[in-house]
Amino acid sequence: MDAEAARAFTPLTLGPLSLRNRFIKSATNEGMAKGGVPSKLLVEHHRRIAAGGVGMTTVAYCAVTADGRTFEDQVLMDAPSVRHLRALTEAVHRQGAAASAQLTHGGCFTFLPKLSTQYPLSASGGFNAAGVLSGRLFKTAMTRQDMERVAQQFVAAARLAREAGFDAVELHMGHGYLLSQFLSPRYNRRRDAYGGDAAQRAAYPAEVLARVLDAVGQTLAVGCKLSVIEGYKGGAGAEEAAAIARVLERTGAHFLVLSGGMNVEAPWAIFGSNMPAAAVETIQNPVVKIATRLMRLAEPKLRFHELYLREPSLRVRAAVKLPLVYLGGAKSLQGIARVMADGFDGIALGRALIHDPEFVNKLKNGTVSVSACTACNECVVTMYGASGTHCVLQGALADAARLNRQPAAD
Ligand SMILES: Cc1cc2nc3c(=O)[nH]c(=O)nc-3n(C[C@H](O)[C@H](O)[C@H](O)COP(=O)(O)O)c2cc1C
Repeated sequence: MDAEAARAFTPLTLGPLSLRNRFIKSATNEGMAKGGVPSKLLVEHHRRIAAGGVGMTTVAYCAVTADGRTFEDQVLMDAPSVRHLRALTEAVHRQGAAASAQLTHGGCFTFLPKLSTQYPLSASGGFNAAGVLSGRLFKTAMTRQDMERVAQQFVAAARLAREAGFDAVELHMGHGYLLSQFLSPRYNRRRDAYGGDAAQRAAYPAEVLARVLDAVGQTLAVGCKLSVIEGYKGGAGAEEAAAIARVLERTGAHFLVLSGGMNVEAPWAIFGSNMPAAAVETIQNPVVKIATRLMRLAEPKLRFHELYLREPSLRVRAAVKLPLVYLGGAKSLQGIARVMADGFDGIALGRALIHDPEFVNKLKNGTVSVSACTACNECVVTMYGASGTHCVLQGALADAARLNRQPAAD
């Protein structure tokens, strides 16, 4: 193994947290929390990833409040979830890895049948493209009071994450969720102190970050996930991401996870490859099915290539000094060496670890140098099935559907 690749296996410090190596399992919605309750399958999923050698695994998509969910079956970071999540963090720690909780609020990107507000919240009001299929045609601009309440919800969720034994929290500021709606020029048309150029649009996400750092930053690593390009015409690009990264660095973020794309406008930019046509038809949730079909019509045809977010991520790398975690299409030892040589501090993997949770150990012991993941994205579709997110080339765990119905700690 060359020196750059070997560096990926050395410890990494993120704020108060030290990881055994630089590999991080990225948040990939597991579909393993029916009704918001973390299941035994979710524990087993992350236990296997931890046993497979990563430094840290990220539990996806933990909603900071019931209204902040996009779907009913995502983890809800509330007091009853704590004991279930503790079972997960203990299982991960026993394997020598750390655990991070991705904290999210969907804003106007929600398919919930019921919300406590008349319209879903966003940076600005008006027509809600994300809500066409859920019947939520309009969104409302957050007032200062809404902003205060949601900031408190992020803080409360971070405290619960600490109580559940997590080592880190990742604030989701990418892909079109509420905080990324503030960052996005398409969603944020505010004329107050929270709108304007990229740095001004980062004011509210930075405020949330500052509050979370104050609450838990002494003991937990606090990071943010950011889209380095939104991926559609008129969307924010790498220079704007660099300006946002500077604001987050000044605010004291311990690390950033760099991603790309937006769920509604450019989902392909998240994945660097298209959704599988046939697989769309197997989606059980009718709303998601129609939404996915419509999105496919607008999709450019892509050919996946390794490290597809490298160029815009390098622009962000040049702008800041804080630890940056590269994410997007890493799937070989050579690619990982490239990421390290580029000066990124960590390397996040999504699909390569869904395909094979042992991937990191196999890279280390030389039994594998390239993941056999084909970036087919069939795993994205399995998210909504009874067995949760899994690689279709490998199949789900034998007992997956049963374990997915059982609350983790019962
Ligand atoms: C099945 C699946 C579910 C995902 N769910 C989430 C999620 O809940 N939160 C998130 O930030 N990213 C999510 N992603 C995006 C990944 O974190 C990552 O950005 C993307 O897969 C590209 O990285 P990769 O090439 O290493 O897979 C998901 C990806 C997949 C494949």
